[in-house]
Amino acid sequence: MCGIIGVTGASEPLRIILEGLEMLEYRGYDSAGFALVRIDGSGLWRERAAVRAQSLPELHKVATPPPGAALGAGIGHTRWATHGAPTEPNAHPHLDCGDRVAVVHNGIIENHRELASELEERGHSRSSETDTEVIAHLVEEQLADGASLDEAVRFLLGRLRGDFALALVEAKDPDTIIGTRRTSPLIAGRSDGVGLLASDISAVLGTTRELYAIEDDQVVVVRPGSITAYDRDGTEVALRPLEVSWEVQAARADGFDDFMSKEIHEQPRALADTLLGRFRSDGAIDFEELSLGPHELRRIDRVVLLGCGTSYHAGLVGRSALEAWAKLPASAEIASEFRYREPVIDDRTLVIATSQSGETVDTFHALREAKRRGAMTLVVTNVVDSLMAREADGVLYTRAGPEVGVASTKCHVAQIALLQLFALDLASLRGTLADADVSRLSGEIAHLPEAVSAAVGRFAEYELVAERLAGVNDVYFLGRGTGLPIALEGALKLKELAYVRAEAYPAGEMKHGPISLIVPGTVAVVVATRGPLYEKIHANVAEVRARGASVLAVCDEEDSTTPDLVDDVLRIPSVPEVLTPVVGVVPLQALAYAAARARGNDVDRPRNLAKVVTVE
Ligand code: G6P
Repeated sequence: MCGIIGVTGASEPLRIILEGLEMLEYRGYDSAGFALVRIDGSGLWRERAAVRAQSLPELHKVATPPPGAALGAGIGHTRWATHGAPTEPNAHPHLDCGDRVAVVHNGIIENHRELASELEERGHSRSSETDTEVIAHLVEEQLADGASLDEAVRFLLGRLRGDFALALVEAKDPDTIIGTRRTSPLIAGRSDGVGLLASDISAVLGTTRELYAIEDDQVVVVRPGSITAYDRDGTEVALRPLEVSWEVQAARADGFDDFMSKEIHEQPRALADTLLGRFRSDGAIDFEELSLGPHELRRIDRVVLLGCGTSYHAGLVGRSALEAWAKLPASAEIASEFRYREPVIDDRTLVIATSQSGETVDTFHALREAKRRGAMTLVVTNVVDSLMAREADGVLYTRAGPEVGVASTKCHVAQIALLQLFALDLASLRGTLADADVSRLSGEIAHLPEAVSAAVGRFAEYELVAERLAGVNDVYFLGRGTGLPIALEGALKLKELAYVRAEAYPAGEMKHGPISLIVPGTVAVVVATRGPLYEKIHANVAEVRARGASVLAVCDEEDSTTPDLVDDVLRIPSVPEVLTPVVGVVPLQALAYAAARARGNDVDRPRNLAKVVTVE
């Protein structure tokens, strides 16, 4: 979580920092701040604000440069609080005792307590409860011993444990920003006399497209128009350019009320782009970027799909496709649990991590653990060159464009389609499906963007149904088979955006406990897909209605039975049952969106959440 930006050599460094922070706000919005070096050598100018979900507007209010101050290099930060409450004293940047060094940080310094007590013994006084502040004081000591800022940061690498990306400036040098990282993301950029550092590409796309990767434990010295990278020993290393396909416009709300509605409406395009070029003229599937070859893929005898939140739900859909089509034993696992088990995997196991950001720390470490145990690894992610993309043996990119809304929407549908297509490719490779079936299913997947477009076209209709949730504080989401991941995703969306207690349950399992909670007036959202469990889900609908629940059903437009059995329907375009998850989540996104807005909630900045979760 947390977003960092640094800029040097710009004529308007403050503007670049504030605009960058707008783009990084999705990473955390508990507080925000910046520090800039005054060119006249009179020190640092720092401002911070901590007003939940309003920190950036508040920061803008105080961002009036001191009269006559010409400004040089600067750093900025948007925070998702881990150590220390979201207050102004805990907001970044943090300074050393003499206000000579400013630091912004994303990640967690695991040994900060030990370092803080050492520093206290040596006479430093702290002004925050954060883990970050120790960095400023450690650097202060190094500078006092005659080190340069980059040498001081190199020294830090030997002292800090945990995951971090850092950017630092020093009061006496208005030209230089120093950056370093371990696990947490950081990129560098340059253009026309300007140098930049940022947590992600979208924060600097407005200034440059000339971007470079920074590897773990490298220290970069960014000066106006120049970037130099060093390894831990201080040897200069070559920079690796990053290919940038995203447009700056893609990361803006563009006339929509918020990013979430923009991204919901972008789903057909996101899906189409994800599927573009994946089908050859002979009907075969083409994963051009996949470095795992047919020989390796044929060796697989088991698949484990890892993910968190919405990406875990995509994994559940992938699991069913792998079992049904590729006839492979498959399981979908919550990454934060998997990592700490004793998973039985070997070199014939394919572990697929699904992650929009490619950065979620639980998924990343679970992937790393799988690799350590010898598994073949594959990542499905939306972010090129992200942590997981670099770690895995193979990568498949969803090409959904930047997703800013905290609750994942367009990336989710792209993930599902890509996982299903991959399952189909494996089925073809393993000969577990006839060629004709592979072609038919690929053709049907290729048509999903149109179906999703039709579902998105019903958005206003879905929002009307959401009125039934006014004043409701408990909702059950029920599904079976193909419908269960859809129900799980619907419940997650309602919880995270509308703050409504929403429980998703396999409908057939209700009678083993949860049905005791159904009382007159309870609302149940039932996903009725027309597959082998269609009649069984109708029986489950009858069971909850018999106990007084009112039922909203997700069903397709050719379904003539379900509407008669329920109180209201969310109609989706008809697609083959097995492909329903891509289309079926759309009305549930709309339901959560409308319920959240009706309650006055900020859909892009839901309470306590952040889009990129880089803490365990
Ligand atoms: C956060 C986001 C979710 C997302 C999850 C996993 O909780 O709010 O929308 O599904 O992280 O993120 P990933 O980037 O790994 O897909």
